[in-house]
This record gives sequence, C-alpha cells and structure tokens, in this order.
Amino acid sequence: MKMSSTKKLVIKGPTTLNGTVDIAGAKNSALPILAASLLTQDKVILRNIPKLSDIISMLESLCFLDCKICLNDDESISIDSDQCKEKPIYEKLTEKTRASILLLGPLLAKFGEATIALPGGCKIGERPIDYHISSLKKLGAEIHIKNNIVHASAPNGLKGNTIHLAKPSVGATENIIMAASLAKGVTQVHNFAKEPEIHDLVDFLNKMGAKIKLLDDSCIEITGVNALHGCQHKIIGDRLEAGTYLIAAAATRGSVTTTNVNPNHLTCVLDKLKESGANITTTANSISLHMPNQPRAISVTTMPFPGFPTDLQAQWLAFNIIAQGNSKVIDTIYENRISHVTELEKLGAHLTLKQNEISADGSDLLQGSDVRATDIRASASLIIAGLTAKGETHIHNTSFIDRGYVSLEEKLRKIGAIINRKREYAKAS
Ligand code: EPZ
Repeated sequence: MKMSSTKKLVIKGPTTLNGTVDIAGAKNSALPILAASLLTQDKVILRNIPKLSDIISMLESLCFLDCKICLNDDESISIDSDQCKEKPIYEKLTEKTRASILLLGPLLAKFGEATIALPGGCKIGERPIDYHISSLKKLGAEIHIKNNIVHASAPNGLKGNTIHLAKPSVGATENIIMAASLAKGVTQVHNFAKEPEIHDLVDFLNKMGAKIKLLDDSCIEITGVNALHGCQHKIIGDRLEAGTYLIAAAATRGSVTTTNVNPNHLTCVLDKLKESGANITTTANSISLHMPNQPRAISVTTMPFPGFPTDLQAQWLAFNIIAQGNSKVIDTIYENRISHVTELEKLGAHLTLKQNEISADGSDLLQGSDVRATDIRASASLIIAGLTAKGETHIHNTSFIDRGYVSLEEKLRKIGAIINRKREYAKAS
C-alpha cells in the first residue's frame, strides 16, 4: 500500500509567552524588490531577505530567467540580471504565490514584452488582476489574456501617463512603479497603496537611480530614466510577523518584545492592543507588549494602510475569541477571508458569520482539537488559538506557515510555547 506523508504542528496549551522575538525581513517587501532587481543589468545585493518558501518561489522564477543568484556568507543575496532573457513564465512557477504577477511590470519595462501565467496565492477572495492590466495598458502596453496566460508587449516602449486606481491595490501600485521607472516621461499614480512595503520598494528603486517622489498623500510621481544601476539594500522588518507575535503574546497574557521592526508600521494595531488593556512601549526598532489581565475584546475593521491590516484580521479574531466581551471583525479588503472561522469553531469558539463580518461572543474557553490551515494568516490564527486552548491542538498542512513565517516553532519555543512539527502518514489517495 502506498503511503503519503504531510506535516502537522502540535501545540500544547494553555501557555503564556514571555521573551524576545527577532523579526525577519518583510516577505511583502522582499518579493517586489526581488522582481525589481530585473530592472538593472548591474548586480544588486539584498540583506535581511526572509528564508520563506514564497521567496524561494520568486528566486526560482529569476533563475528560470537566467539571472545569477548568489547566497553570500553574510546571508545577503546577490542578483545579477545581465544575462537575463525574456521567456514565458508558466503556471508551475506562478501558481505558488500571488507575487509572481510582480514580474509582469519589470519584464515589460526591460524587454518590451512579457508572457506570464496568472498568479496563485492564498485563496482569500477572487483576487483579479484587472488594475494591473488596465494600468500597464495606460503606460502603452498591449495586453491580452488567453488560457490563463498574460501576453503583454510594448512595441513602442512604455510611456508615462496619469493613472487613477479604483482601489489602493498593493500589487498594482508596485507593478506600475516598477514599469514606469524605465518608461519615457512622467507617470502619476493617484490613490496608490501606502503600505510600508511600497515605500521600501521606492527606496530601493531610488537607490538604483529611479526618480520617484510623493507629490502628496494620495499621489506618487515617477519620472522615467534610461537605465538603472546596481545597489545594496536592507529589507525592512516584517510588521505582519511582529503583529502576529504581539497578538499571540496579548492572547496568552504574556510579555513579549519584538526587535528589528518599526513601530510606525503598526500604529493602528498597537492602538487596538492598548485599547484591549495591553501595556506597550516602543523604541525606533522594537515593540514591547505586556498584557497584565484578561484582555478586553475590541472590534476591528480592516482598511488599507495605515488602517488595521487585513493580514492580521485572522489573528485578531483568535484574540477576540478568548478576550472579554462581544466584538466584530470586518474585512473590507477581501470578500472571502473567512476560512479560519470554521476551524476556530472546532476549538470551541462561538462565532457568527454574516458575509465579511465575524462576531465573537468572547471569553471562550477553547479545547485543543484537529484543525486545518487554509492560508498563511489563517494558520497563524489557529496557532494563537492553540496556544490559549486547553490540551493538544493539531494543525494540519504546515506548508502555509512556511510561506509566511521564518522559523516559527523555534521562535515560539524560545518564548515558552510547547510546539512541535510532526510528520503524519496516510494511505496515498
Ligand atoms: C498584497 O496582495 C499582499 N501580498 C497581501 O498579503 C495583502 O493581503 C494585500 O496586499 C493587501 O494588503 C503581497 O504583497 C505578496 P491588493 P495584493 O492588490 O497585492 C482587489 C499575505 O498574507 N484587487 O492590495 O494581491 C483584490 O482582490 C498576503 O502576506 C482587484 O480587484 O493585494 C483585493 O480585494 C495575503 N484588482 C484588494 O483589491 C486588482 O487588479 C486588495 O488587493 C488587484 C487587486
């Protein structure tokens, strides 16, 4: 009989988290910056790149395009794109992560054409790419999609234009900025996304010689240049990793410091944690939280930055479940980021779901159980719930964790969690 094996996380609860967590580089900053490295013939050296499977997926695509990638002794990554060739990037490379679509803008700018399969990524909504396509067309590209493959070309090169985004799309903003950096003329993007990861990409591109500046709070301007040169850059700390550990610390009534992260990237989340009863202190690159008593449940509505991030919605729900009082979590960014709800209910959570609004009764005493991870942040939500539940929680399908969190078990064990990864076998289907 053939057997298949997968891995699961086993957490023994309840525990209290106490200690310090070193935060890794931001996944959602490293991904566009890796794609943007295509825009120069020179070498770029990137530091603080997180060791995540989504990063490996992006590096695989760059290697496929004949970029030379080198992991240096100091753990920095060098990327040399001078031998890079335009080739169709098919589904086996794009299906693993949404970020693969971020290759479209740079390839179009560099080669005047790009062929790339539609992206994969977390199943948290329909996640179309219409803003990416319509914006690149405004820069002069001809684009059509056939059999799930995007065919783009700019026979006369890309030309600057004025673009108004219907929603402040992070990925569309990144594709526009990267493509416009080498376009002829000036591009203005109104209603651009303001996430810290966008500013990190802009810093990286300006170090390469791009001419990008904020005109005001809702418009960014890119003046195209003929060529970009190499540079060195350190990726910012991951606010989403830090937010996850801080919420976990609050849920377990612990005391945790996260280092290598900018507190200004989490202002809204820190305000909500203070409202729930946490004591928060910060320095320029660290955040410390102490939760002295049972926290109060606090309602949140996700919004584009600087609002409450959708990527901490699932984790916050796990916190509200064990906190005191009724609360609501509303996700305005994705129409279907709710797959963690049924899994949390298996642990004993009392939740009510009405479209994208999740109500929690609060003060639930969770019991360990078998649950399944369904996306990166849903996995984190189940881990937080498992840390507060009585008994063992088995979280199946750990691949999502490795897409978004560096050395998660080690970091959690270091601050008091009882957590292990176990292999499990089943009859092959
Ligand atoms: C980025 O995804 C992040 N991923 C996501 O993080 C994050 O949830 C999201 O931004 C919002 O902050 C990376 O950076 C790799 P969007 P992205 O374009 O760029 C709709 C994680 O867990 N939309 O800002 O895909 C879209 O459907 C991941 O780390 C269109 O309608 O997000 C969504 O409802 C999950 N048409 C909303 O806009 C488009 O062309 C926001 O999407 C593009 C987006």
